[in-house]
Amino acid sequence: MPANRREVTLRFLAEPTDVNFGGKMFGGAVMKWIDLAGFACASGWSGSYCVTAYVGGIGFERPIMIGSLVEARAQVVLTGSSSMHIAVDLYSRNPREAEWARTTTCLIVFVAVDEAGKPHPIPVWVPETDADRLLADYAEDMKTQSKQMEAKRACWLAPAGTAGSDQPYR
Ligand SMILES: CC(C)(COP(=O)(O)OP(=O)(O)OC[C@H]1O[C@@H](n2cnc3c(N)ncnc32)[C@H](O)[C@@H]1OP(=O)(O)O)[C@@H](O)C(=O)NCCC(=O)NCCS
Repeated sequence: MPANRREVTLRFLAEPTDVNFGGKMFGGAVMKWIDLAGFACASGWSGSYCVTAYVGGIGFERPIMIGSLVEARAQVVLTGSSSMHIAVDLYSRNPREAEWARTTTCLIVFVAVDEAGKPHPIPVWVPETDADRLLADYAEDMKTQSKQMEAKRACWLAPAGTAGSDQPYR
């Protein structure tokens, strides 16, 4: 029976193994946390295995210091037939102190798929508060914009099967 939980919070420690060249948390590791929190949230909502379809609107507002405690808060903000827009916000704090600071925000799209990788229907999320409706609007805007970008991208992307060959991409 699916949990149908809208929110998930995960916590991590920013380990020294994930340091970047500037001595702070490596951005790729931060993106991994976003993906993990988004996946847990999407799976919990849909009661299904999910794949990442699109990552948009990612903003690195503050660096994360090595040794920080990091919290990834993920919530469903918009659902389609099989897709879920998940807002993931990261906060960090010194483990010896109380105050959290927001470091990173992202909107990421997951799709619920069956064992053959085919999308399947998910429960509908209905926004309840004004804040929910604002987030849903934001996700709708991102959806429209990403479709426009996708159409432009199709003009210059290499045809399938040509990438990696010696041929130029266009
Ligand atoms: C995502 C994926 C399952 C979509 O499959 P598809 O056959 O193209 O399915 P559809 O075109 O019917 O789209 C299914 C849903 O995904 C959404 N979707 C597909 N591509 C998307 C994209 N680039 N951005 C946002 N949403 C997207 C569609 O809008 C649709 O949503 P809806 O059902 O809520 O209306 C498929 O493209 C895939 O498997 N991609 C690879 C995923 C992956 O490897 N991720 C990284 C590791 S988890």
